[in-house]
Amino acid sequence: MGVRAEINEAFPELAEIEDDQLRRGVVDAWAVALEENGEPTLSSVSWLGPYQSKLGLSDELLVDHIRDVTAAAVGIAEAFVSRRGMDIDLDTVVAGTLVHDVSQLGECDGEQWTRLGTLLGHPYYGVYLTRTAGLPVEIQHIVLSHTDVTDVEPATLEADIVKRADAATANAIRSRAYDDLREVPAPDRFS
Ligand SMILES: [Fe+2]
Repeated sequence: MGVRAEINEAFPELAEIEDDQLRRGVVDAWAVALEENGEPTLSSVSWLGPYQSKLGLSDELLVDHIRDVTAAAVGIAEAFVSRRGMDIDLDTVVAGTLVHDVSQLGECDGEQWTRLGTLLGHPYYGVYLTRTAGLPVEIQHIVLSHTDVTDVEPATLEADIVKRADAATANAIRSRAYDDLREVPAPDRFS
């Protein structure tokens, strides 16, 4: 299977993006990430590598996490559209969630942090990948602001929705390892 077919199979939510250029950009960002990092099998890449293995959560996968975040973010966005008539760009929400953790392919190698992961940290490589793929700066902003690792707060409602959907989804995974989520150490609360 070619790289693009693999990406399309991993993320059926790509079909929800109406703008052809945006959909192509998401696939391009993942394709470059796969090509630059030894073309791992996308469906077997772990969620947060070394971090999750120390919690005994080695079975959690990146693709599943991203699809969870997409569903959660779309649910929040659709609630605001239907209940408050808000003007939210669903294409941006879906595209942004699908690339928010694309940097993981360069940051982790199985259960090890890579040199890129330790020297650049999360999620700066994803800003490079989305920019290289020609995705709009609003999508690059979603990548940059989705995690508390950076000090860039979401400037748009779409970015805020992705950040909150990601945090809740990451905590849903952590709840398998913690009875009380307040016990998660502060440095480990990234997603
Ligand atoms: Fe995430």
